[in-house]
Amino acid sequence: IPTGDDLVKAILDLKKEKNAVILAHYYQPGPIQDIADFLGDSLQLARQAKETDADMIAFCGVHFMAEAAKILNPTKKVVLPDTLAGCSLADGCSAEGLNKMREQHPNALVATYINCNAETKAASDIIVTSSNAEQIIEALPKDRPIIFAPDKNLGRYLSKKTGRDMILWDGSCIVHEAFSMERIAKQLADHPNAKLIAHPESESPVLELAHFIGSTSALLNYVEQDDCQEFIIATEEGILHEMKKRAPHKSLIPALVFDESCNCSECFFMKRNTLEKLYLCMKYELPEIIMDEEIRLKALKPIEAMLELSK
Ligand code: 13P
Ligand code: SF4
Repeated sequence: IPTGDDLVKAILDLKKEKNAVILAHYYQPGPIQDIADFLGDSLQLARQAKETDADMIAFCGVHFMAEAAKILNPTKKVVLPDTLAGCSLADGCSAEGLNKMREQHPNALVATYINCNAETKAASDIIVTSSNAEQIIEALPKDRPIIFAPDKNLGRYLSKKTGRDMILWDGSCIVHEAFSMERIAKQLADHPNAKLIAHPESESPVLELAHFIGSTSALLNYVEQDDCQEFIIATEEGILHEMKKRAPHKSLIPALVFDESCNCSECFFMKRNTLEKLYLCMKYELPEIIMDEEIRLKALKPIEAMLELSK
């Protein structure tokens, strides 16, 4: 495997040779963000994957994101650097479990966060991402209860925002759950001019302290556009790479987590991807996302319902 600048050049050469596009999430390691053709949140990346005319999509994110790209654009070859790039939310929610909840609440609509696998999507009525969840929940018929899976923290936040009762799946993000309300309150006291901004996967006590709550792209836009000069950031620390580029003169402070020996919050799954693995997956076109066509078509329906409602 080439190293340093040669590695970057080799990836760019493979991109040309294979007519590939590199899509990356804001939580990816910095060097991957720098080489990507498009950087985005889950919704932006799904849209980009749907629209691309490249022959190969090298998806630098976690497995459910690459799978969503394949669901939306099945004729493209979708590869990801490491198939073990999972997600605690996706890994903890099965289609069987969701179907059982539906049996208990036969009149309910099932709204599922995009952080889930294709089978779980196929068992859902509509998919949401953190960028469009509020808008979509608001648009659901008021006379039907809502089952929301898998993130109970996002579900609780949405229920509070929209006033809709929700039956929640008991799932959470291991990264966002690690933020400590007590330690963040102390950070705010130490930085009286700072604003706390948080991803809605964080627990309620952290969200209650936050000046602004939003998806990764919304957090980025907020830091760039708001007059405040100092921010405490309660989301995965990879976002700081792009945030520093967009707001180079602002002070960006990672929110503290429970474990005092660790000052930042990293998604172990997102960080499985490396430039070396990106090079190898593009060179050998492996690991590739392969899907059962029946599941793909079933999973496509609730994603299309989402895209239709969040144009
Ligand atoms: P966004 O859609 O806000 O980028 O969130 C994805 C995610 O996995 C957050 O943990
Ligand atoms: Fe999943 Fe949390 Fe990692 Fe996002 S940060 S990919 S929700 S484990």
